[in-house]
Amino acid sequence: MKLRLGILIVSDRAASGERPDLTGPAIQQVVAEQGWQIMRQEVLPDELPLLRQVLLAWADSKEIDIILTAGGTGFSPRDVTPEATLAVIQRQAFGLAEAMRAASLALTPHAMLSRAVAGIRNQAIIINLPGSPTAAVENLRVVIPVLAHAVQLVHADPAAEAGHQAD
Ligand code: MTE
Repeated sequence: MKLRLGILIVSDRAASGERPDLTGPAIQQVVAEQGWQIMRQEVLPDELPLLRQVLLAWADSKEIDIILTAGGTGFSPRDVTPEATLAVIQRQAFGLAEAMRAASLALTPHAMLSRAVAGIRNQAIIINLPGSPTAAVENLRVVIPVLAHAVQLVHADPAAEAGHQAD
């Protein structure tokens, strides 16, 4: 199943050009390995109204199955990506966030500092990843095995049943 992705990098410094965005290319590479398609990609500052607006536009475009955000999930006062995500999703996907944190905790205690959330808005799934290239890829690799099935389920695709039986 060829998934359609949106990649939203959230970083004040990358957005202002103060430092290059290395996380977007790292995620792109993993997405390319899967043969998935990137429909939108942007680098935005940690501004709640702006993030909410872009997440809404992408989720409601009907052109994106999964929006991956990266960055802004920590404890600094500027970290508002989970809040922007919670403002637009209709249902939380706790298992995705729990699995990413659990797997990350085996790698670093700093995983406890991720406030990442995941959830569903209509037929789009939004998943927060941490901002560093390594952390973003480590977290993304945890959820990749279930994403095609997750997208089938949100589309109420009859093929999703087969996916359950195969699991
Ligand atoms: N998860 C993994 N797998 N590897 C990491 O190095 N870094 C953590 C955490 N999750 C990390 C990780 C750190 S240091 C922080 S502060 C939080 O993610 C939030 O990162 P963010 O503020 O860049 O979103």
